[in-house]
Amino acid sequence: MGIIYHQNSQELHLFNNQLSYIIKVQSNGELTNLYYGKRIHDKEDFSYLQPGDTRPLTVYQTKDSPHHSLQHVRREYPDYGRGDFRTPAYVIRQENGSRVTAFSYESHEIYRGKKPLEGLPATYTRNEEDADTLEICLRDPVTEAVILLSYTVFCSLPVITRHVQIMNQGTQKLVLERALSASIDLPDSEYEMVYLTGAWARERHIRVRKPDHGISSIGSMRGASSAEYNPFFALKRPSANEDSGEVYGFCFIYSGNHLEQVEVDTEQSSRISIGIHPDTFEWPLNPQETFVTPEAVFVYTDQGLNAMSQTFHRLFKEHLMQSSWTDRERPVLINNWEATEMDFTEQKILEIAGTAKELGIELIVLDDGWFGGREDDTTGLGDWFVTNFDKLPDGIEGLSDKITALGLQFGLWFEPEMVNPGTKLYREHPDWILCPAERTPSPSRNQYVLDFSRKDVVDYIYGLMERVLSQAHISYVKWDMNRYITECYSIGTAADSQGKTFHKYILGVYSLYEKLTRRFPDILFESCASGGARFDPGILYYAPQAWTSDDTDAIERIKIQYGTSLVYPVSSMGAHVSEVPNLQTGRSTPLKTRADVAMFGAFGYELDITAMSREEKDAVREQIAFVKEHRRLLQHGTFYRLKSPFQENASAWMMVSPNRKEAIVGYYNLLGTPNCRFDRLYLRGLNPDNAYHINSSAETYYGDELMHAGIPIPHTGVCESNVDFSSFIFYLSVV
Ligand code: DGJ
Repeated sequence: MGIIYHQNSQELHLFNNQLSYIIKVQSNGELTNLYYGKRIHDKEDFSYLQPGDTRPLTVYQTKDSPHHSLQHVRREYPDYGRGDFRTPAYVIRQENGSRVTAFSYESHEIYRGKKPLEGLPATYTRNEEDADTLEICLRDPVTEAVILLSYTVFCSLPVITRHVQIMNQGTQKLVLERALSASIDLPDSEYEMVYLTGAWARERHIRVRKPDHGISSIGSMRGASSAEYNPFFALKRPSANEDSGEVYGFCFIYSGNHLEQVEVDTEQSSRISIGIHPDTFEWPLNPQETFVTPEAVFVYTDQGLNAMSQTFHRLFKEHLMQSSWTDRERPVLINNWEATEMDFTEQKILEIAGTAKELGIELIVLDDGWFGGREDDTTGLGDWFVTNFDKLPDGIEGLSDKITALGLQFGLWFEPEMVNPGTKLYREHPDWILCPAERTPSPSRNQYVLDFSRKDVVDYIYGLMERVLSQAHISYVKWDMNRYITECYSIGTAADSQGKTFHKYILGVYSLYEKLTRRFPDILFESCASGGARFDPGILYYAPQAWTSDDTDAIERIKIQYGTSLVYPVSSMGAHVSEVPNLQTGRSTPLKTRADVAMFGAFGYELDITAMSREEKDAVREQIAFVKEHRRLLQHGTFYRLKSPFQENASAWMMVSPNRKEAIVGYYNLLGTPNCRFDRLYLRGLNPDNAYHINSSAETYYGDELMHAGIPIPHTGVCESNVDFSSFIFYLSVV
């Protein structure tokens, strides 16, 4: 059991062999945190870790208890208004307008395993032995509201997950103005904050800043987790790097508006807050109702950023994603979008499919433009059936028959949450969009957002999608979402419940994913949001891969995939070889480099393969054969970042097999440097005693040699290795 309760000291110690997390119930029932970090021995009493000195000008809980100053202790789920002036985790407005509450410990329960979070994506255990859970019950005597704090500690991963339930067990109507999922106070602020920011076509670039007095926060109020700020950050010691040093990683299993924040107070302690963004949230809680927050994940390691990432990758693959595809090798696909956009015919798709089959591709995806009156992006969304029989004479069903007859799998694009004017759906249900009736909705990409906070809207879309998916042979679905949410108002919902709309919207998205993935458990779902604007752990629960970015330029993709790997496994990153000059950047990179980058992902092509030269086709055939031969390793090995494109003019990463007998390294030059130095690459994760062949060389190299002496980057001519955009793949094997 990874949780010990010490009755005399009223301390609870959560631990596994890598971490300890110690909570104390104070004599007045307040919950404080005594320690979170590397595993330490258990003992009865750690209360010396609690600041107990009297301080000038401090608010105390009672006259005689200087150690009960809420301002100076490290709190587990802090309120505001009784002496702790830092950011609160929750605010409950009462009928008399008061926001003061005083929750104190009532009881706790410890059990094996973990319970699901109703309606929300969350980590799960496969066996009870995987994790232990602590639930602490707090009660406010005035409102009679109850807060249930849940902590799960995983046994073989340095992970604690947290979420909160707030229950109204009193008689008055309460309003939650803020209900975060987790808060924790760390005793110092000697950290750097590492986080992922960007925009369309440059998602999840790594940035680092030093949190100082005041608040450093990231988040989204766009209705999606967003390309701008991913729901993740890490606090690392300044000396920590990829391979060593203390790192605390935090992520939020949620796809809507979110907030992640570090507040450093003037005594240098750091308060971390994670949860639904309070600025777009208000949740009335009637008597007997309960609000459940989404789940926050805490990772602790003293082995650097690579270890943090590997922990997230394992946690997501073993305890979050629930698709039957999670651990499977992903089909090599061709997507028609960059080749044809919406201007295709059945004949063109079948030509692409024919060539795809010859080259060894396994799945063809028909992207946007197959439904309703969709010829451009001004109409069609919402009418999920074929009306243009000039384009698709036998509909989706007929096309899927022809494609499967070629021996290929077939995939289809949807954008379920959106509607265009001019569609049957919009004509019949103009009130199904998010927007107050008396206002004009703001268009984005000529489309409006359907009110997924309403069950009837979700059910209608489910009906249309279910029909297409059950009538045709469909093995893959790309679920797109191409605009952020504005005018977030649900027609027909009571005025005092409008603050629920953003959260209920995303619950509606989850419910549609849940219904479709249950109905079609063998379909591989890939999520997408104008590229990677909703690449988050919440969506990964349903869809085991996501379109990483609309930016398919190989050099840009190195940064995007490198940043994404901080949190998300390689198997979850959709990565395609596209044409040059690249549509997003205008850059031309070699076909080899494009494939060498994309093969570290859910691999595919997105260009007109029918227009390729014979040489190009031969090269593609070889690339596909290589990926298929090493697909298990490339998609499901242990991933290490070796060289950062954010710091150097080159980048490298590698995958190592579980038995450490095989590895694949990708090395990429960004821009060339004249008369460059002879670079060495230091590998990671190998068995020091194994003798490895590199790319079938006769000579062997020990693992320790490759990790500590490094491998020279090949130079076949004067600095040829340093040509712009060149790449090398090293395959290591122990025979
Ligand atoms: C945005 C996606 O990211 C693209 O891959 C493509 O599916 C388009 N939408 C289609 O409209």
